[in-house]
Amino acid sequence: MEFRIKQSVLKEELGFIQGVVERKTTIPVLSNILIESLGENEIRIVGTDLDCTIRCDAEAEIVTPGAICVQARKLFDIVRVLDSGDVHFKKEDNEWVAMKAGHANFRLAGVSREQFPELPQFKSTPMTLPAEVFSFFVRNTAFAITNEQSRFTLSGAKFIVGDGKATMVTTDGHRLAYVERAVETNGTIDTLIPKKALLELVKISRGQGEVSFGEDPNHIYFETEGRLLITRKLTGNFPNYEMVMPKSNEHTAIFDLDEMRSAVVDRFAEADVVVMAAAVADFRPKAPNESKMKKEAGVPDLMLEPTPDILAELGERRRPGQFLVGFAAETDDVQDAGREKLRSKRLDALVANAVGRDGTGFGSETNEATILVADGRDVPMHTWSKAALAAAVCDLIGRFLTGERPPGTLGRP
Ligand code: CTP
Repeated sequence: MEFRIKQSVLKEELGFIQGVVERKTTIPVLSNILIESLGENEIRIVGTDLDCTIRCDAEAEIVTPGAICVQARKLFDIVRVLDSGDVHFKKEDNEWVAMKAGHANFRLAGVSREQFPELPQFKSTPMTLPAEVFSFFVRNTAFAITNEQSRFTLSGAKFIVGDGKATMVTTDGHRLAYVERAVETNGTIDTLIPKKALLELVKISRGQGEVSFGEDPNHIYFETEGRLLITRKLTGNFPNYEMVMPKSNEHTAIFDLDEMRSAVVDRFAEADVVVMAAAVADFRPKAPNESKMKKEAGVPDLMLEPTPDILAELGERRRPGQFLVGFAAETDDVQDAGREKLRSKRLDALVANAVGRDGTGFGSETNEATILVADGRDVPMHTWSKAALAAAVCDLIGRFLTGERPPGTLGRP
């Protein structure tokens, strides 16, 4: 085997594979990667820990076809510090591999191709979803996956696609993360994906383009931009998460403006994030009658006065580092009216809801909304379920709390 490849291309693909290559393994061959020629202009690089396999195809100039099998970590450590330019590989006797880049020469001890494990036969990947959906799902659910080895079925995510939506659910037995998105579906799947595969999938797809996927009885296949990830499925029964998710809320809290205002204002100083999804009425009677109003006096003329705007008050009192989210239900000029509220109340983000039409707003399961972010970005969320919209707002807040501030860092560009 002899080939030439651009250092930048090799570095990138080797980087993707490092995640699955075992460092401390009882099966030494798994610390190696397999590089094979594919026709005249491509190589195929494979790394595996037997549960999860990543295969990347990359452009290269094949001089002599064949295969080499070398230490993954060592090769990556060398390649990442080489100057940009071509890297030349040539297999020598006894599996040794000579590598040359500019004036630098290396010799790597390899193992024979036959020792490298057979990979599961790749089946078709008939379904597709935007890579961004996977990034969004994993970012919002991975934290609740258990780290306890003994809780095998909880060490990954339940992933369901069908009926126009995709869902991901994780739990460690104490907490549960659930996220769903309305998507165009071209098939159905209901499976358990191990955590490691999910994290690697997000890395190799980089949140861009499409991910196609499919399954066989034991494996799930994900394919994106010349890269293939094969993972063994988790087996066992995932808990009945629907049972613990509240279906409805029969509790009602009743309070007046002053109670709401003082409850919010009292706790504001210690809050990092405030989301004001609702508020009291905008007007109240100016002078409530002390005594009972008698019918005989006729229909009264009510004198109203505006109620204090709690959120606007928070906007004035805010300290650096706090994150303020408002909501606005609008029937006309949704975006413009929302942006004006965002500006005048000094908010970081505002969810502008279109109301008054079918399929959005009050009494509807879905919502037509736009998240307006203070840097001028609009993030449209047309006809998302309300749960998905709430998840998107939480995602935005999460990014703020972890120091990865918005502008432009939302799940949906
Ligand atoms: N809000 C508030 N206190 C009020 C009125 C509104 O804190 N007295 C908050 C709401 O919680 C929401 C945002 O301000 O997050 C926008 O509320 P909305 O009723 O849409 O807008 P208003 O500012 O009341 O303006 P208008 O009714 O004229 O559209």
